[in-house]
Amino acid sequence: MMNLYFLMTFLFLAVAGLTALDAALTSWTIIPWVNGLRWLRVHFITLGALTELLFGLLPLLAAKRASLPKPRTRLDIWLLLNAGLMLLLAGIPIVNQVLIFVGGTLIFAATLLLGHQLYQLRPANRATLSLPNRFYLTGLGFFLVGIIVGTGLWLGWSDVLAIQVPIEVHIHANNWGLMSLVFAGLLIELYPRVMKRPFHWPNSLNKIYWMMSLGALGLVLGPWFSSLYFTVPGLVLHLSATIWLLLNIIKPVWGDRAQWAKPGLWHLLTAYFWFLAPVLIAPLIILQVPGFPGAGIEANAPQALIYGWVLQFGFAIIPYFARRLFQPEAEAALGGSWLSLIAVHVGGVALWVSIFVENGGVWHGLAYGLWTIAIMPIVVELWRILHPVFGDEHVDTAVSPTD
Ligand code: HEM
Repeated sequence: MMNLYFLMTFLFLAVAGLTALDAALTSWTIIPWVNGLRWLRVHFITLGALTELLFGLLPLLAAKRASLPKPRTRLDIWLLLNAGLMLLLAGIPIVNQVLIFVGGTLIFAATLLLGHQLYQLRPANRATLSLPNRFYLTGLGFFLVGIIVGTGLWLGWSDVLAIQVPIEVHIHANNWGLMSLVFAGLLIELYPRVMKRPFHWPNSLNKIYWMMSLGALGLVLGPWFSSLYFTVPGLVLHLSATIWLLLNIIKPVWGDRAQWAKPGLWHLLTAYFWFLAPVLIAPLIILQVPGFPGAGIEANAPQALIYGWVLQFGFAIIPYFARRLFQPEAEAALGGSWLSLIAVHVGGVALWVSIFVENGGVWHGLAYGLWTIAIMPIVVELWRILHPVFGDEHVDTAVSPTD
């Protein structure tokens, strides 16, 4: 059965490119601002491209790890996720409470079912979960929190739940919880295979799991109770775990020129620069340093994080997994291109510059223009992988799981 999630990932990646272009053109006042597109732009990437990818991928990886047969695509989960997404895409820009409630609920249900499926996909004789699955399931647990808070943003749930800074709880649960943990699990699965070597400290991975999970919890509870007693330890734990994981990856390949001669590894690792950037700036906001544009940062930094980190991580892994699934005979190389690498980073710099200068519109537009350019080669790469499978010519091509 064709993996429909990959088709949706492709669709949303292409749309993400179009809406980045729109942001460039509106910032340069070439076309008028379209209200509500900001939410769509971020969520085309987070929910559209990446969540679709994860829903399609995680059961395959879990089954493979457990030496179980390849699971069929669960159409019930696929429908719940995509129907929910459609309702949110319609409902959030116009703030229609019924659409938001139903959309959020459907995605919540899809996530629960995916979690259940993953939990079941373990070797028959093993009661405990594998390490990657623990990362994934914990990540999905944070996603459930992120969905509840995100759905409730316009429904008054934050008051009921006594959440002090709801938008931050939403972003933290999804970024430091869902995405961080799932990305870490994916790194653990793909690194030894792509780089053909073990981690530098293989025994550290379990500790990294605990540090990252507890760190994410602290980062969710921090804005929930508006308390630095949660945020600061959470930040320290999460950050140390991430740096430890990255060193685990960088040290073994440090002197291996062949690996650095390709853009994939650069995408994967330098994406984390944009993950760290807001963290490095955070103390200045918390301490309310005079003259420091805290409000501007809070309004804009999430976008640099999404395009620089989440999307760029996707540049490396989306084509990688698509190739493994649809072109099992091809070498499983990370995706990406040098043009994307340069454009996505210069775009991130331009976005941060736009926060600090007067009349930042030009820089803001430049950031989105560059991000549009960055996305295009990836869309083309993915198209080349998917087209023979989904196009008319080879509809019947048997898609088998890779080794
Ligand atoms: C069912 C799932 C989700 C719902 C209902 C939802 C809902 C929302 C809402 C209502 C906002 C506020 C928009 C505004 O203030 O104008 C928001 C912002 C945001 N969400 Fe989500 N979201 C969901 C999933 C995600 C995921 C998976 C991520 C992944 C990281 C994410 C990241 C963000 C970010 C970064 C922002 C801030 C955007 C900005 O300030 O530009 N969301 N979301």
